[in-house]
Amino acid sequence: MRKKIIAGNWKMNYCVNKAEEFVSQIKDTINTNEVDVVICPNFVALDRISDLIDGTNISLGAQNVYFEDKGAYTGETSVNMLAAVGVKYCIVGHSERRQYFNETNEIVNKKAKKLLEKDISPIVCVGETLEERESNKMFEVVEKQVIESLDGIENISIANKVIVAYEPIWAIGTGKTATAQQANEMCKYIRDVISKMYDEETAQKVRIQYGGSVKPNNANEILNMSDIDGALVGGASLTNDFVAIVNY
Ligand code: 13P
Repeated sequence: MRKKIIAGNWKMNYCVNKAEEFVSQIKDTINTNEVDVVICPNFVALDRISDLIDGTNISLGAQNVYFEDKGAYTGETSVNMLAAVGVKYCIVGHSERRQYFNETNEIVNKKAKKLLEKDISPIVCVGETLEERESNKMFEVVEKQVIESLDGIENISIANKVIVAYEPIWAIGTGKTATAQQANEMCKYIRDVISKMYDEETAQKVRIQYGGSVKPNNANEILNMSDIDGALVGGASLTNDFVAIVNY
């Protein structure tokens, strides 16, 4: 039985003080017994939020990382730097990074491998555009993203550490959610791709989230689908809706 994992991707929202205020308010009411809960604040808030959630079952996630260890990479943050402030998960290949910062599958793959070296779980995002869905190319597009982003990662890491997040781009921040059936169909497809790349046992263990306009009113249906093992939540993770989603 795969344990559900619900992560809040705050994107470029909340300065440190506001981040602390919000986390202080939710940390004792959020139910972390049955679900793994992760929050992914902005880099500058990571350290303070790390202290604040110390001793709770909430885990800390980052929204990005660079794949080199150190050196002259102005503006970048290494895996060691994340590990040093208690980061346990890191989103890689979010569609906004693919779109605005030219992140490719190859870069996503390097970042995921680097994170695993430090025992940080990569949350590897994949998903198609509206145009790709409308021209029925979504399976082909997502399959390529999965194969190239996970290339060369060992079975054991896929089974126990890597999280895949299916986020159809047309459903992000649009209020337009994939139906639970559409989301499940793709998550199941991703599992089949992983089974072909690795083996069925690994595929049955890997956790696959859905992301894209997850809200309290659709969380229950989405999270009860056979192949959806959690949610990557954007907008709704900035409010008390996040608590409601975790308590789905
Ligand atoms: P929304 O929940 O705001 O649609 O964002 C989804 C997302 O991009 C999470 O990474």
